[in-house]
Amino acid sequence: NDVSLREKSIVMIGFMGVGKTTIGKVVAKNLYRDFIDIDEEIEKKFNMPTSDIFKQYGEKIFRETEKNMIIQSCKQKLKIISVGGGAFLQEEIRDVCLSECIVFFLDMSWENWKDRISLLIDSRPVLQGKNMDQIEELFNERQPIYSEHHSRVITDNLVVEEVADYIVESLK
Ligand code: S3P
Repeated sequence: NDVSLREKSIVMIGFMGVGKTTIGKVVAKNLYRDFIDIDEEIEKKFNMPTSDIFKQYGEKIFRETEKNMIIQSCKQKLKIISVGGGAFLQEEIRDVCLSECIVFFLDMSWENWKDRISLLIDSRPVLQGKNMDQIEELFNERQPIYSEHHSRVITDNLVVEEVADYIVESLK
């Protein structure tokens, strides 16, 4: 049982732009594991950026693809998987991740997050057309979904390596 726990894939969740991909890559490197970025896989499949997928195919198709890719990836062992910020809104995704993998929620305060908006707005269709209050509302709405059931890592005031170390240490 211990062995199977150690072989479980690790999933990074949290709001857009908190560093799931960046931190996931460092964790993968430190553990000598492969890294899978679900958004990147979806973009490869459609051969276009997420914002174009939303425009041309619609969010529903994006969410279906996201679900199928996560289910497939979670069934593999020894991976580090970063999933999009909207993934955990789908019950099926939550269920498969929580039963097959170890899930880490990368948490960041709104105060720290809000300065990142300009870096994200062009590539995140979910943020487009919303004002700051509406984005804050979305941020707050999603927090309880992320924080339920999983190990939470508070990333405020930590650099990428420190967050990655914390995650690696907490697996021991
Ligand atoms: C989304 C988050 C994005 C991406 C898509 C939708 C969301 O991923 O999957 O734009 O609904 O929160 P990141 O969390 O990696 O930005």
